[in-house]
Amino acid sequence: MKVKSGKLSEDRRKFLKDAGSFAVLSMMGIGFFTSCSSDDDPVPVVDNNDVNENDDNGEAAISIQGNTVRINLDLENRLDEAGSWLLISQANVIVINDGGFVALTAVCTHAGCNTSWSFNNQRQLVCGCHGSRFDTEGNVLQGPASRPLEMFETSQDENILTITTS
Ligand code: FES
Repeated sequence: MKVKSGKLSEDRRKFLKDAGSFAVLSMMGIGFFTSCSSDDDPVPVVDNNDVNENDDNGEAAISIQGNTVRINLDLENRLDEAGSWLLISQANVIVINDGGFVALTAVCTHAGCNTSWSFNNQRQLVCGCHGSRFDTEGNVLQGPASRPLEMFETSQDENILTITTS
């Protein structure tokens, strides 16, 4: 499935420009896709209670309607930084801020595990069930999975990221 990249807001363009310093850190051997000393970081899971919860202004950080997931990036700060990621379990979607936003199915193509994901400092998604590894485009890097993770269409309009699952 094709990915559309949305138009980034001024703030986010500035942020990503600032994120250029990550490249320097990488050259110094400091990975920016991990925030702790372990090799694999569990992907933060958004449970059902977080979805469609409106704030005082009637805005939801994450809302799901049918096959559309809508993330208000002003309210959902767990995706703010390049290298951050989120698993929205109700929609079986993993969202990664990889400079732009990428959305992949959370259902592993090996045996269907959908909650045991981690993201390592080599920018690989690791399925904890049997150890399959995927890159941020869903391609298999290591089996036993042999098929890529499905990538979902994304679009961004200012602070709203929309993901269309199939
Ligand atoms: Fe993911 Fe087996 S279900 S590696």
